Amino acid sequence: MPSLSEIFPPFGLSVAAGSMELRVLRDDDLPELVDLVAAGVADPALPMPFRAAWHEEPLDLGGPRGFPTESLRWWWSQRAACASDEWWLALVVRAEGRIVGLQDVHAVDFPLTRTVETGSWLGREHHGRGLGTLMRRLAVGLALDELDAECCVSAYIEGNAASAAVSRKVGYVDGERVRIVQRRRGERTAAWEQRVVVTRDTYVRPEEPVRIEGAAAVRRFLGIER
Ligand SMILES: CC(C)(COP(=O)(O)OP(=O)(O)OC[C@H]1O[C@@H](n2cnc3c(N)ncnc32)[C@H](O)[C@@H]1OP(=O)(O)O)[C@@H](O)C(=O)NCCC(=O)NCCS
Repeated sequence: MPSLSEIFPPFGLSVAAGSMELRVLRDDDLPELVDLVAAGVADPALPMPFRAAWHEEPLDLGGPRGFPTESLRWWWSQRAACASDEWWLALVVRAEGRIVGLQDVHAVDFPLTRTVETGSWLGREHHGRGLGTLMRRLAVGLALDELDAECCVSAYIEGNAASAAVSRKVGYVDGERVRIVQRRRGERTAAWEQRVVVTRDTYVRPEEPVRIEGAAAVRRFLGIER
């Protein structure tokens, strides 16, 4: 009988450095992940960091809407959308074995664009210990070194000093500044978003050695030829 990672190679991917490991989200991770979100994600002193305030939805286990039901649909849709042209890797971030956050890596028309977009968050209790910088360095390294991306783009809401600092420390440089709409508790408001981009020329690698498993199988699965 084939293993789960032979059937769906993203499940066999592991990107690690020091005591941090990134692996594609599995259903078994959901209880710990839901608990983490319920304990809080964003720093209330900073602007709301996301397009939609999914992390502020009241916990309603098994309910028709809200958290975690709508987030589940989103996380599972990422897995279903994993094909050569467009793919999502929802990477669960563990530090010392505990789930601390999530790091997304997303590509559209990848064979042509060779560009990935990243987004990330950590549970509030795990902020400010260098984990945000390390997880993004690992994600960018995965994209540039293993998945043969040419550039990685990201964005942060103006005033999100933590995300801006992480971007700078990973080697992103500022791109365009755009006006976007954020949704929070049924209200839509406008905000400035700063786009950022990193390439091999500016990328700052993790200080610790990086350990990667399963990248060749993921390249084959996504049709990335060398
Ligand atoms: C953004 C985020 C991932 C950063 O992770 P983190 O582990 O807290 O960041 P780090 O500890 O790696 O810190 C990186 C830098 O940010 C700075 N920083 C962290 N919080 C800060 C704050 N509130 N104000 C100013 N700078 C801050 C740190 O000082 C550090 O810079 P330094 O090393 O030069 O001192 C985390 O804060 C988070 O999950 N926030 C909520 C979601 C979010 O904003 N996601 C990103 C946008 S989609």
